[in-house]
Formats: sequence, structure tokens, C-alpha cells
Amino acid sequence: MKILAVGDIVGDAGTEMFLSNIEQIKRQYAVDFCIVNAENASSGNGITRRKAEMLLSGGADVLTLGNHTFRQKEAAALLMNNQRVLRPLNYPQGTPGRGAAVYRVGNVKIGVVNAMGRIYMDYMDCPFRGIDKALKNMQADLIFVDFHAEATSEKISMGWHLDGRVTALFGTHTHVQTADEWVLPKGTGYITDLGMTGPVYSCLGVKKEITLERFINCIPKRFEFADGKCMLCAAVFTVDETTGKTLSVERICIR
Ligand SMILES: [Fe+2]
Ligand SMILES: [Fe+2]
Repeated sequence: MKILAVGDIVGDAGTEMFLSNIEQIKRQYAVDFCIVNAENASSGNGITRRKAEMLLSGGADVLTLGNHTFRQKEAAALLMNNQRVLRPLNYPQGTPGRGAAVYRVGNVKIGVVNAMGRIYMDYMDCPFRGIDKALKNMQADLIFVDFHAEATSEKISMGWHLDGRVTALFGTHTHVQTADEWVLPKGTGYITDLGMTGPVYSCLGVKKEITLERFINCIPKRFEFADGKCMLCAAVFTVDETTGKTLSVERICIR
């Protein structure tokens, strides 16, 4: 089987880039299932119900989130009502929504887990223990983990922690694609960061004039997403659903 994982969708421009390219990508790579990180899909960061529905009806099978999960007021209701939207599982107990779920494609059960790192990020429960706990209860043929984290060291360590226990682990959050896709020794597909799906002439999706003002004059301004020409960053995992292992990983970046 082929599973496509798409990096952080940024704003309206990123959403449009996803919607206008996904059918072609799915055909070209014969994709069976598509996981999309949508934590920046709303123009004010986070996600709205409308954006979630656009992405899910436009080609995504599951949406994962990150540190911007609760940026929009309606996010809690969305998470409670839509089983196809996941938030990091290591929010404190009692937080609305779920961080892991199992979906069916034909006879194959696909588990998806979303967790967030703790290095240079918000305070969260331990993602290592959190994922261990989720895996204990998960009945699935294939398991994919979106580890939404800043530090490469934390992501690589998570890769080693999960090698042989999940089908693949991909990182999100930095919006910059890494060139380290491979299959770990015990069969777990890995890439430190998928990169973003959003505006090319920007700083991680934000208007470059705003970030430059911050860095050069130290004057903070409200972040606004850029628009114009976009890129779509993703990875395709070719997997064996009988063993639950990854056979190969291919990085995609369309501009
Ligand atoms: Fe993030
Ligand atoms: Fe992001």
C-alpha cells in the first residue's frame, strides 16, 4: 500500500495548493490513504470546521494538528464531532479531542497517532510515554505517527524509540523539508520533517516583510500568511500491510 503524508497546510493559499494538486498526486503515486497536517490551515492559524471539511472532502483521509490546535474557538467542537481530525495526544488529560484513532481502508486497519514535542515548544505531557500508551491499546495493521516537534534531536530520538513498533514516523511543524528520509533498521519509515504546503515567497508561510521587521528592527507585528506561488511538501510511504513495515520512503516537493 501507499500512504501519503502531507506537511503543514498554511492558510488559504496552502489549502488551494493542496486541493488543486491532490488528485494528480494520488493518481501518480497510487495513494491508498492520505494524512494531512492542517494546524495552520485557517488564515489565523489553527483550523476551522469549514477548512477541515474542505480538506477532508478534497482528498485528505485524516487531519493531524499541532501547537496551533486550539487557536480557533471552534476547534474543540470540531475535535469532539469529527473522528477524522486528531490533535496531539500529549495534551493534559481532559483536553477535548483525541490523539490516536484507527481507520479502515478495505480490510486494512490504519492507525494514526499525533503527538507533540517538548523542546522549544509549549508545556506538554511526555510524548514518548504518551505514544507508548496509545500503541498498547491500538489494534491496527499499519501505524503512522505525526510527531509535531521543533528539535531534530527529539524527532530522531522518537524515530529510534518507535523503530519496529510503528510503520512510519514523520515530523511536522518546522515547515522546512528535511532530506533524511529512510527506513530504520527494524522497518519503520522515517523523515524528520515533511515541510510545508504553502507560499514559497514567505518565511515559513508568513509574509517575509513581517518577519524581517521583527528580526531587523525588533518590532513585533501580527503574523499574516503570504499568498502567491505555493509549494506542496509531502512523503509517500510504500508499506507492506502484512508485516506493518515500510519498504521505501519517497520525498515529494512540488513548486
Ligand atoms: Fe506547529
Ligand atoms: Fe505548522
